Amino acid sequence: VSARLTIDPQFAVGAVNPRLFGSFVEHLGRCVYDGIYEPGHPSADADGFRTDVIELVKELGVSTIRYPGGNFVSGFRWEDSVGPKEQRPHRLDLAWHSTETNEIGMHEFSTWLEKVGSELMLAVNLGTRGTLEALDLLEYSNIRSGTELSDRRAAHGRVEPFGVKMWCLGNEMDGPWQLGHRSADDYGKIASQTAKAMRQLDPSVELVVCGSSSAHMPTFGEWERVVLTHAYEDVDYISCHAYYEEKNGDLDSFLASATDMDHFIESVVATADHVKAVNGSAKTINISFDEWNVWYLERFHNVDKIEGLDNWPKAPRLLEDTYSVADAVVFGNLLISLLKHADRVTSASLAQLVNVIAPIMTEPGGPAWKQTTFFPFALTSKLAKGVALDVRLDADKYSTDAYGAVPLIDAVATYDADAAATSVFLVNRSRTEEATVTIDLTALDSAIVLDAQTLSDADVYAKNTLNDPNRVGLHPNKSAVVRDGVVEITLPPVSWTALNLG
Ligand code: AHR
Repeated sequence: VSARLTIDPQFAVGAVNPRLFGSFVEHLGRCVYDGIYEPGHPSADADGFRTDVIELVKELGVSTIRYPGGNFVSGFRWEDSVGPKEQRPHRLDLAWHSTETNEIGMHEFSTWLEKVGSELMLAVNLGTRGTLEALDLLEYSNIRSGTELSDRRAAHGRVEPFGVKMWCLGNEMDGPWQLGHRSADDYGKIASQTAKAMRQLDPSVELVVCGSSSAHMPTFGEWERVVLTHAYEDVDYISCHAYYEEKNGDLDSFLASATDMDHFIESVVATADHVKAVNGSAKTINISFDEWNVWYLERFHNVDKIEGLDNWPKAPRLLEDTYSVADAVVFGNLLISLLKHADRVTSASLAQLVNVIAPIMTEPGGPAWKQTTFFPFALTSKLAKGVALDVRLDADKYSTDAYGAVPLIDAVATYDADAAATSVFLVNRSRTEEATVTIDLTALDSAIVLDAQTLSDADVYAKNTLNDPNRVGLHPNKSAVVRDGVVEITLPPVSWTALNLG
């Protein structure tokens, strides 16, 4: 396999927004309880938060964190989760058939965010609630003092407003599984009304309207058009959600999942720009890709599902996928897809963060460890700075059942003029062949390879587990050499690589 690419700062796609490296904490399974929060754990701090998890979240380099759901938010009453803990009600969480104790709410989660250094992105419930409750939550969060709800927040111990900027107008309202699922027309109207009302209260908020739950929804495309026809002038972002999994042993197609994400993003951009043209609008709507990951959904439907009128467990083990090397290569490629569209994808959230389809796993009373997917996220969020560059890739192709002929190599670069630093992120999708990639750097003044790290393994299904937490990791790729302004690097089969040039 061979491929050529060119790094030229003139081929800038757009600035890399740090919000591209966001994540997602939902009240689901063991993400919050027995995940980030486990009072009594040897590493727990005075607030009951696991400091080993805090250190891993910091190392992951997560910017914004979306909270508290997800499907959970469509049945959530935010008032339950504030005030004295002993007075907080236990509620049924219909989305995940669990019991929500409300032991962790807005205040506690904000305290945790301060410890990890991330920004809060809040979702309001537009499934079973409406504009008034969204306004109440915004008043509670962002008004300094002198009103019933802002004073209630202060009485609950938080004098300074939370100052939340990013707000999601509900979650996956196109999905029939969603509590309060609506038609595009109905949702577009309530989203527009709620957005207008929220801006009347706080004009500085940034608002995300729900797009499709996947590019494979029957309403995909039309949903975006109708919703934006109602809400275009009222919002800043439209969301995209996408999950990928290997189906029926078709690894070739799975390894090409990012081509589907590319197509998804480009279709939503085209639809948003169509509405912009029809509206004669001067404003451009960007994408908040606020749920993306590898997720073995079939396993969730067949193994994990909880049922029974008397069976509503607290923090059950749900969606605890264990990720392989192949999963991490696809995952790294999804990050490449987001970066390739940095001009229009200006916010994204990896779904999710701890235990639930997560890069970080924990055992109650025991260790926390990194899944395979931890590595591409941590290194990309660390190195991808400045602007994203189109690399004018020319690569051999292979044939896939799901996506037809697809390049065997995918790549993107970032260029940070201030730091004179260039990074290149690459995947080799071949199951069997090494790839020789030549990277033309002649447009850069000078360049040396500072570091090259590769994720690959002879066993593409190797995983990190409780009993073998360090089985998979990054290893230096020593093949990278620069000669006459050209880097040559060898990529092993089924691999993800980050190249750091100075
Ligand atoms: O991330 C898990 C779930 O996936 C979220 O709750 C929902 O929004 C999506 O369907």
